Amino acid sequence: MYDDNPTIKNIDESKQGDAFFKEQISGEKDGNGKKFYIESYGCQMNFSDSEIVASILSDVGYSSTVDMEESDLILINTCSIREKAEDTVRKRLRIFDKLKVEKPGLLVGVLGCMAERLKKKLLDQEKLVDMVVGPDAYRDLPNLIATAEDGDKGINVFLSREETYSNINPVRLGSNGVTAFVTITRGCDNMCSFCVVPFTRGRERSRDPYSILAECTDLLGRGFREVTLLGQNVDSYKWKNPETEETVDFADLIEMTAKLDKDMRVRFSTSHPKDITDKVMYNMAKYENICKYIHLPVQSGNSNILKKMNRTYDREWYINKINRIYEIMPDCAISSDMISGFCGETEAEHEDTLSIMKIAKYSMSYMFFYSERPNTLAHKKYPDDIPLKVKKRRLSEIIKLQNELSTLHNNNCIGKIYKVLIEKESKKSKEDLAGRTTHNKMVVFPREEATIGSYVYTKIDACTSATLKGHLVSKEDFLKQQ
Ligand code: SAH
Ligand code: SF4
Ligand code: F3S
Repeated sequence: MYDDNPTIKNIDESKQGDAFFKEQISGEKDGNGKKFYIESYGCQMNFSDSEIVASILSDVGYSSTVDMEESDLILINTCSIREKAEDTVRKRLRIFDKLKVEKPGLLVGVLGCMAERLKKKLLDQEKLVDMVVGPDAYRDLPNLIATAEDGDKGINVFLSREETYSNINPVRLGSNGVTAFVTITRGCDNMCSFCVVPFTRGRERSRDPYSILAECTDLLGRGFREVTLLGQNVDSYKWKNPETEETVDFADLIEMTAKLDKDMRVRFSTSHPKDITDKVMYNMAKYENICKYIHLPVQSGNSNILKKMNRTYDREWYINKINRIYEIMPDCAISSDMISGFCGETEAEHEDTLSIMKIAKYSMSYMFFYSERPNTLAHKKYPDDIPLKVKKRRLSEIIKLQNELSTLHNNNCIGKIYKVLIEKESKKSKEDLAGRTTHNKMVVFPREEATIGSYVYTKIDACTSATLKGHLVSKEDFLKQQ
């Protein structure tokens, strides 16, 4: 039983059906004497956005606090991906309401996807909220705060076709100083029928690659050793210099990032099966520091359901893609997202999801039951007709199978040696450190002389479905194994 489970640690409402995570930040700066407190829910992109918000606020003199009771401004960066995510936010707003009554002048702002989805309706429903700010409007926060300080409601939910916040250097929140997220695209053009993201995040935009490289270089200079390039669909990254006609696609971008420093690892998320190319796979194989791990959500293993989900690939196409990955990188780990009980799903169609999981040999998955979202294509076109009990039973079958697959995957690691980037102390024991392998598996091991932020080699002795347990060995031992 080891608790250093990456899938739980990076808790993320988009991924963890029932869990929620709030990120609080600290770090004092000189300024206007006012303090803000921020909580983030949802996907990694939202956490990354909160770091942009922190930067914008610190520029106008705000300092941050982890104690909401001493703050002048409470911000909640929200997620709409499933109904439960929104319920969690409403519960938090009740707590903030109480504080507001006790502390006149305290401002509360709702940021992110729920702000964008509900717009002015949110102000009507949540009388004590002062500001509603969509994901593309964070530069306007100082104005909106001023409006709210004057006693009016501040709202900006404008979705941009250009905004990438490329010139803003994010303030790293709750950072371990080793790994960081770097946003490379915003929005999504895919229109999967179940998904609210295209409505809350708008059209897809790719950020200038040179601003991405500059951010990574800055991180390197500050001791970071791993970047995760983020986007809803990173493989569709495409940038064109309007003056020189130079174009950069995602495969180029990971190569450019990997070349910055061979000791800085590059990860990325999320890949869409329809867009990941051989060129991406070959570049992954070419550079040791591009991690051999692909998050390639399948959603369903049945072609009819995939069609209704508007995923634009079918079962056979997905299996071919998986085979291609294992052909080019036999050692690659692949993870996935699955949804149980989508509209009209039969038992046989559900069985197809179970069977594709076995074929793909996922190392890990994020698993959900379908939650209908207002105004999505599925909401308009298909009745949400699978009873909750059935959705949950199918989900439990998916989870059970994934646990077996993860255990199998981890058992295969026993006796092998892996290079690990150390991220932190183990939660269970100060004597142990924890870090990840290229395959995104957390390894816990006795610390000896090792330090956080460095690479070590560990031989795996034991495992659970979530974590590997090992001990330090020499680089020579590792090279002998290769
Ligand atoms: N852009 C990413 C996914 C972002 S949302 C991609 O395409 O893979 C993260 C995950 O939430 C999705 O992969 C999906 O499995 C799940 N999800 C999205 N909408 C959902 C809904 N309405 N009900 C249940 N799960 C949902
Ligand atoms: Fe949603 Fe599909 Fe876009 Fe992912 S690719 S964010 S699931 S619409
Ligand atoms: Fe949630 Fe918005 Fe991310 S809906 S999953 S926070 S893009």
